[in-house]
Amino acid sequence: MYAFFRKKSMADLLAHGQNKELNRTLNLMDLILLGVGCVIGTGIFVITGVIAAESAGPGISLSFIVAGIACALAAFCYAEFSSSIPISGSVYTYTYATLGEFIAFLIGWDLMLEYVIALAAVAAGWSGYFQSLISGFGLHIPAALSSAPGSGQNGIVNLPAMIIILLITALVSKGVKESTRFNNIIVFLKIGIVLLFIFAGMNYVKPENWTPFLPFGIEGVITSAATVFFAYIGFDVIANASEEVKRPQRNMPIGIVASLAICTVLYVAVSLVLTGMVPYTQLNVADPVSFALKFVGQDSLAGIISVGAIVGITTVLLALLYAQIRLTYAMSRDGLLPKVFANVHPKFKTPFKNTWITGFIAAAIAGFVDLTTLAHLVNMGTLAAFTLISIAVIVLRKKQPDLKASFRVPFVPVLPAVSALLCIYLATSLPGITWISFVIWIVLGAIVYLSYSRKHSHLNK
Ligand code: ALA
Repeated sequence: MYAFFRKKSMADLLAHGQNKELNRTLNLMDLILLGVGCVIGTGIFVITGVIAAESAGPGISLSFIVAGIACALAAFCYAEFSSSIPISGSVYTYTYATLGEFIAFLIGWDLMLEYVIALAAVAAGWSGYFQSLISGFGLHIPAALSSAPGSGQNGIVNLPAMIIILLITALVSKGVKESTRFNNIIVFLKIGIVLLFIFAGMNYVKPENWTPFLPFGIEGVITSAATVFFAYIGFDVIANASEEVKRPQRNMPIGIVASLAICTVLYVAVSLVLTGMVPYTQLNVADPVSFALKFVGQDSLAGIISVGAIVGITTVLLALLYAQIRLTYAMSRDGLLPKVFANVHPKFKTPFKNTWITGFIAAAIAGFVDLTTLAHLVNMGTLAAFTLISIAVIVLRKKQPDLKASFRVPFVPVLPAVSALLCIYLATSLPGITWISFVIWIVLGAIVYLSYSRKHSHLNK
């Protein structure tokens, strides 16, 4: 039993060199751009259309607001948690130092599900826009090779999605670095593309397309919120940056709320324009935003939007792949996963094998599972992580009241409790098959922990 609750000591964390000198370089603007950059992607460009057609209608704009509120509450908890110990690292590391090995392992295991599946899901969205773009040049990939089975287009394998993941993997495995400047440029491009759609599309809105506004009722709005939640995934990177932010007590909450608010406003506007331009029943396509512009005869604009979406979604892929590698690298270095994940390539100085294992798994999933199924799984994993983190804030305040945090959630325990309940509530709207898959994954995790990680943990020594 002892193993379950053993914690990493601060000395251990520092010895692993995870202690970044508190180099506070990010200002509020950087923080907001970081968040927006990791967030805007397949969710808004693809899932909006699918969900409007299948379960929300024009009311999908309300779903975005509900999901945005859930994210904001969780983000506060995330920020306190990540700023409570003077180290940089993922939520896995913080849990290891505060709540013990077993919970840390399960959170890490759960986040692995989130990142790998999200990688596959985002690639599926990329594939839709890639095909939309090349179709403008008269090129078409045969249906069997252009989408996963079950996505309703006679697909057998989503080849473009697999290829883009492998290309990104090849780049990352050779040590291509993330750069703040490059990220900022892409973020502005992405926001520009979204605004272009909103302002160009506005002229073609026919208000009659908005009636009925709630064809699937309020229930449809809530169920859909659990799916469009996907569009907000990625903002947790802001919370993880708390140690690098200037004046965190002020900038963290403003940064979180501002980037979520920007995304929410953009998402609501896009979904209103989209459902105003095209009857919602016709939006179940792989490239709804371009499709809407083609629908009203604006083919060149549609092409521009496709290019923007392709570039913008690519950076989300990079961010997710990095997140996954960092996580499994850290878990392996602690002995909780096999050594191969922490193996560093002698020439490229990257976790080469880890990167390729991740890339191959994500590519295989992207090839054969459809986007909606993937998005549900990602959301389940994320909602579970958010729930645990919200509860952890309450536990941490009770158990270690003296722990200094550069950012503290207001109204504890009410706010974290509401956050946990809202996440659980949204998760109950996800399909049964998602719950079954999730439970299987967690049970598998517990088995791996008991049979492997507990024995190989470096804390054994
Ligand atoms: N939020 C990210 C996206 O929509 C995962 O692509």
